[in-house]
Amino acid sequence: YRIACVVAARPNLMKMAPLLRAFAAPETQVETVLIHTGQHYDADMDGQFFGALELAAPDFRLEVGSASHAVQTAEVMRRFEPVLAQTAPHAVLVVGDVNSTLACALTAAKRNIPVLHVEAGLRSFDRAMPEEINRVLTDHLSDLLFTSEASATSNLLREGLPAQRIHFVGNVMIDTLLRQLPAAPSAAEVLRHAHLAGFVPDGGPYALLTLHRPSNVDDPRRLRALMATMVKLSDDLPVLFPLHPRTRAMLHQHELAGMLDVPRLACLPPLSYLNMLGLMKHACVVLTDSGGVQEETTVLRVPCLTLRDNTERPVTVTEGSNAIAGRDPSVILALCRDILRFGGKSGRIPPYWDGQAAGRVAAATTNWLQSRRERRP
Ligand code: UD1
Repeated sequence: YRIACVVAARPNLMKMAPLLRAFAAPETQVETVLIHTGQHYDADMDGQFFGALELAAPDFRLEVGSASHAVQTAEVMRRFEPVLAQTAPHAVLVVGDVNSTLACALTAAKRNIPVLHVEAGLRSFDRAMPEEINRVLTDHLSDLLFTSEASATSNLLREGLPAQRIHFVGNVMIDTLLRQLPAAPSAAEVLRHAHLAGFVPDGGPYALLTLHRPSNVDDPRRLRALMATMVKLSDDLPVLFPLHPRTRAMLHQHELAGMLDVPRLACLPPLSYLNMLGLMKHACVVLTDSGGVQEETTVLRVPCLTLRDNTERPVTVTEGSNAIAGRDPSVILALCRDILRFGGKSGRIPPYWDGQAAGRVAAATTNWLQSRRERRP
């Protein structure tokens, strides 16, 4: 069997690496073709992760780059279709919720090629979030839906998707985390490399911040308020802030970069996977609007405050170390101070977040491909 596997943006790479490894096992009888749509393209958002995650070079690069949602989605479809014609896969595997996930699922479905979606069923119930549209539509185009938590399975069933399509396999992003964790450097090493030795007093607490959601960074008033909150937080403990390119661009566009020029707040370029892991693992608190970081902190059992009004990953709150902090500065600061004083919740690791999720995807996929072949005349 041949499966076309799609990656597009940074978080896709951590999810695809264990899947490709699992499909490489001979018993799966699967050969994979890797297609990179090029939604992320900078070395520090993309290139550096291939070596670090032991990912083979893509077989096809679509090089779509950045554009409006409509143009980016359409351009991926236009460039993906000839790859499908050329490679004639038995299925297309997509992960996550980025524009390319939907674009490739739709292209495949229109050519009658089965779609497999890993990380299916997550719902923020917030249609203003571009990823939510991608999630809902991709799931309804998919033939096999692999879920990472129980809420995702319930969401799909509630939307009328048939139970036999849904497989609760656990979290492939955590497969990568557990594989890489032993190699993660200490916070002191990361800081030394970033020329920030001494920024955090030896072994002392620090906060790690990541932000990139359009809802947080595109509106200058909201971005300014969040930045002012982080500057205040830096009075209590040092704050490390690796900047996503979208966030960096918005800070400059709205002339807000200057306000971050305070002694205990350090902006960093996007980090390597291992450096990010090292900083997350040793943080006193992680503040984020990322989906993956909510999951990773849950497994690291590090307190996480999600700077959004909702999460599509509720198990990180009900079981894990995550709390929805919203965007009210006084609430965020109060929650941080509580964590600093009393320690935050460490939570439990959700079921099947055990490093074996990709193996479950591969096994279920092979079974399904075989039964499809047998059903055909
Ligand atoms: C995308 C995904 C989001 C995911 C995130 C992870 C969609 C709708 N959004 O958001 O779900 O959580 O990736 O990072 O698919 N840029 C660079 N270099 C790059 C990539 C982007 O400079 O390598 C710039 C772009 O020019 C743009 C900004 O960063 O100005 C944002 O990129 P974009 O692709 O729009 O989406 P993300 O915010 O990264």
